[in-house]
Amino acid sequence: MRQAGRYLPEYRALRARANGFLDFCFTPALAAEATLQPLRRFELDAAIVFSDILVVPKGLGADVGFKESDGPVLLPIRTAEQVMALKLDGICGRLAPLYETLTRVKGALGPRQALIGFAGAPWTVACYMAEGGGSRDFSAAKSWLWQEPRSFRRLIDLLVEATIEHLAAQIEAGADCVQLFDSSAGVLPQDEFRAYVIEPTARICSGLRARGVSAPVIGFARGATQFLGAYAVDSGVDAVGLDYTVSAELIAQLAGRKPLQGHLDPVLLLTGGEAMQRRTIEILALHSSSPHVFNLGHGVLPSTPVEHVAELVALVRDWRR
Ligand code: CP3
Repeated sequence: MRQAGRYLPEYRALRARANGFLDFCFTPALAAEATLQPLRRFELDAAIVFSDILVVPKGLGADVGFKESDGPVLLPIRTAEQVMALKLDGICGRLAPLYETLTRVKGALGPRQALIGFAGAPWTVACYMAEGGGSRDFSAAKSWLWQEPRSFRRLIDLLVEATIEHLAAQIEAGADCVQLFDSSAGVLPQDEFRAYVIEPTARICSGLRARGVSAPVIGFARGATQFLGAYAVDSGVDAVGLDYTVSAELIAQLAGRKPLQGHLDPVLLLTGGEAMQRRTIEILALHSSSPHVFNLGHGVLPSTPVEHVAELVALVRDWRR
């Protein structure tokens, strides 16, 4: 969704060789190829491993599936008993094929190409688990955290532990840095944002450091806008991923604190032409005096023309060359 995916005809051909999306993720030869496909076409600085945020619930023993057109479908988990039935022990063994993918990809990359591992952040993954898939209002997850905070916290705590294991294993297998996707971070009020977005992220970062892992962590708290300053300072992440709504004023505040990544609206990549060019140059200029990794503010949309991606990469490469 960030780099690989259905906008590439070669991805669709590869996908057709797997028995569904999860089988695709868990087959290292296919997943490594999907990771490398965008790098064969475009002059990119980094690869993001082909996998998904829902492999962690899968590794914990949750029932996870992907429907061809509806995205992820999970058997909802909403009670303390269901949380207790999940299994942290041995998770990295169950996710071992994913680490093999990273090792394969690392071996195929040039010395100046970085490899990014990733995981969903606990709040976002808990939302998928409680809702049983994507959601508009997050009513199952939110009702749970307000009605029975103790058992919801158990799920978050379990996801913190599982995510530390999963990220450490990815770094061990060859990832140069890791990204935490908190795609649903923007739906929480301030206190809950601190409790379920900032705090679990901080525990993951300190858990990795306690294991001696020094690879940088990029945190992407989508839609967090007004709390992004607090997230940048208190979550422990080394760099902050930006969605496409972040203003120039907020950039000015954040830029002195942490390196930034992202920012372009994927719909502009889909749109192409002058609108894409104009905004891309604006973003490059906006970040020109502080560390910034150019990237999208969310995933590549499946109907994005491949030529637009080629044009965008060339535009960024040639800027002020
Ligand atoms: O190249 C890459 O982008 C790396 C792999 C990657 C995927 N998913 C593969 C994928 C990454 C980084 C993700 C992250 C992810 N997965 C997020 C966070 C996104 C963000 O930027 O905030 C989320 C919320 C998910 C969960 C998920 N996986 C959804 C909602 C869907 C359905 C999306 C859709 O458009 O149908 C997926 C499936 C998925 N994961 C696809 C890909 C390439 C599409 C699968 C397919 O049909 O081939």
